[in-house]
Amino acid sequence: MTTDPHIIERLATLRAQLRAHSHSYFVLDAPTVSDAEYDALLRDLRAIEAAHPDLITPDSPTQRVGAPPSEKFARVRHPVPMLSLANAFSEDDVRAWRDRAQRLLGPDTQMTFTVEPKIDGLAIALTYEQGRLVRGATRGDGEVGEDVTPNLRTIAAIPLTLGSVQTEPQQTTLFDASQHAPAAVDIEVRGEIYMRLADFARLNQRFAEAGERVAANPRNAAAGSLRQKNPSVTAGRPLRFFAYAVGPFSGVAIASQGELLTTLRDLGLPVNRDAQRFEDFEAALAYCRAWMTRRDGLDYEVDGAVIKIDSFAHQQVLGSVGRDPRWAIAFKFPARETTSTLTNIVVNVGRTGVITPNAVIDAVNIGGVTVRNATLHNIDYIAERDIRIGDVVLVKRAGDVIPQIIGPVIERRTGGEQVWQPPLACPACGTLLERAAGEVALRCPNFGVCPAQLVRRIEHFVSRGAMDIAGIGERQAQLFVENGWVATIADLYRLSEAQFAGVEGYGSKRVANLLAGIAASRTRPLPRLITGLGIRFVGETVATLLARRFVALDALADAPSEVIAAVEGIGPVIAASVVQFFQQPGNRALITDLASVGVATRWEGAPAPQGVALAGKTFVITGTLPGMSREEAAALITSQGGKVSGGVSGKTSYLLAGSDAGSKLAKAQELGVAIIDEAQLRQLVASDAG
Ligand code: IVH
Repeated sequence: MTTDPHIIERLATLRAQLRAHSHSYFVLDAPTVSDAEYDALLRDLRAIEAAHPDLITPDSPTQRVGAPPSEKFARVRHPVPMLSLANAFSEDDVRAWRDRAQRLLGPDTQMTFTVEPKIDGLAIALTYEQGRLVRGATRGDGEVGEDVTPNLRTIAAIPLTLGSVQTEPQQTTLFDASQHAPAAVDIEVRGEIYMRLADFARLNQRFAEAGERVAANPRNAAAGSLRQKNPSVTAGRPLRFFAYAVGPFSGVAIASQGELLTTLRDLGLPVNRDAQRFEDFEAALAYCRAWMTRRDGLDYEVDGAVIKIDSFAHQQVLGSVGRDPRWAIAFKFPARETTSTLTNIVVNVGRTGVITPNAVIDAVNIGGVTVRNATLHNIDYIAERDIRIGDVVLVKRAGDVIPQIIGPVIERRTGGEQVWQPPLACPACGTLLERAAGEVALRCPNFGVCPAQLVRRIEHFVSRGAMDIAGIGERQAQLFVENGWVATIADLYRLSEAQFAGVEGYGSKRVANLLAGIAASRTRPLPRLITGLGIRFVGETVATLLARRFVALDALADAPSEVIAAVEGIGPVIAASVVQFFQQPGNRALITDLASVGVATRWEGAPAPQGVALAGKTFVITGTLPGMSREEAAALITSQGGKVSGGVSGKTSYLLAGSDAGSKLAKAQELGVAIIDEAQLRQLVASDAG
């Protein structure tokens, strides 16, 4: 048992900082640190916990993904049924609802209302006992739901412990752990799991590129992500949460919906900031009306406004009819779906050669925006839904995402519709298209040469998360490619002022800026360069892992897939994609070419490389080491793929022993576990050939 007060305090401080940053991000919507800083804190916490496993608590920020995949979700009976909501489709419907409530409460009762956006996701219940999350369940049929606790624990917006959160922990040096004990409340918090529109679009793109089925809308994507057998799959999905209701509770006094929302927020739960309280019913209604237009500016899907009678005492008097409470109503907004005629299907060639189909439709107005094009996701989507040219189709537009075709309106077929045939050849370069086994994506295999792919690759290379070169967009990329100035990414660095002479819109100042921007990007750190290459499945996060492990681009290009897959956080699919990328002759040559035009392909400022020297080995650390603390030793071991555990057993590969080693040393000797000192550990690490 570790009792060192410095370690205990450091742990408490790190956990409090991580919780506070997470709270600022998800609840206050005001990030306080960069992702990289957050990750660095999390890494520190992991290293200390690895060295002191007895200090790991289930509510530590490191413990979100813990449970192994389950075969089936257990059923959970809700202590109080999870209700539904009656719908109102007009203001008169809402007035009638209000009048009935007034009648039941008596004419002299002053009613107060809260209005909240009705988020289109799925309802869940979170049980907190003494402030700790002990269970999370889906709504199910309202009586019985499914226990999805391990999955819900992976959602960063859901606090594992309740309590007031210090928002600026970095300012405290001496940390008072008592302040952060979970709030002593038992409460069942209810709310909505949802996905933001931009996150949804990105996820669907990922699905489409990987040849998986795309989700029809953010709600389905959220539901599918939550009902995963393997919590680590859920952990990789961008799920969010808003709390808006309660089941049974004790330890807090809450007498109204308004108080509930404030209390939930104070306990550290995300509450929608647009919820408002109204004494005046007509003002509440006006607020709902304003929402119908405001919802376009939101990055999540809202299908109405929920009006609730504020007082819990009034709610109790009103009760419910069947599943619908008499004290609340959903004022539904008109759907943002409409119909139009599909006049044509055109295809686009993506960065990796994937062909994506787009619908051309007769112009229609959807929620104030004229729509002429909509996505059809991928080729199989068209066949699966039997979408034909000439069909009257259902078109949906939500927020800022690209409008999409939902499907044909079969009843309106006239017989003149035509089944669409996917192209056989790339519309940009004429190369015969290919379909890899087991994939839905149709691709142009003319990698790196096809002008359409090249334009997309340039756009990606210069994008903000990659080499971040300002002033180059689709138009510029097209100009470079069409004029034959840029045939590979490296040619960007060969552009010269003379080439732009006489090109309209490119004055000398603009050209100078453009070229200076390109030149400045030569020294971007390796993760950005790797991101910029546009390897399938390799975004910023994966690129950083790869850059840390390999430090130089040619080392990555030469690495066999087992070595890549051994990097923590990288699996066989990504590894295979990296290998495949560098197997294409053009891409291997690109590395040499980039180096020859002065692009930094080695990461000079790289943090200590992540290795695999200790992969599969389990260490136990004991005693005082001469040259490093136990945390440093643990960090070194985990950075090389090893594991650190607390107790010696038959599974222990090495006991790392310093002076004053005690019972662990004896146990290791008894079990015949190899005993090494610090110098030997360093030798093991250095023996990593990569
Ligand atoms: S209150 C009365 N508040 O809408 C208790 N529900 O159509 C019912 N929903 O099952 C829940 N936003 O999934 C409530 N601010 C909000 C909501 C909300 C979305 C969902 C919830 C519910 C469904 C009913």
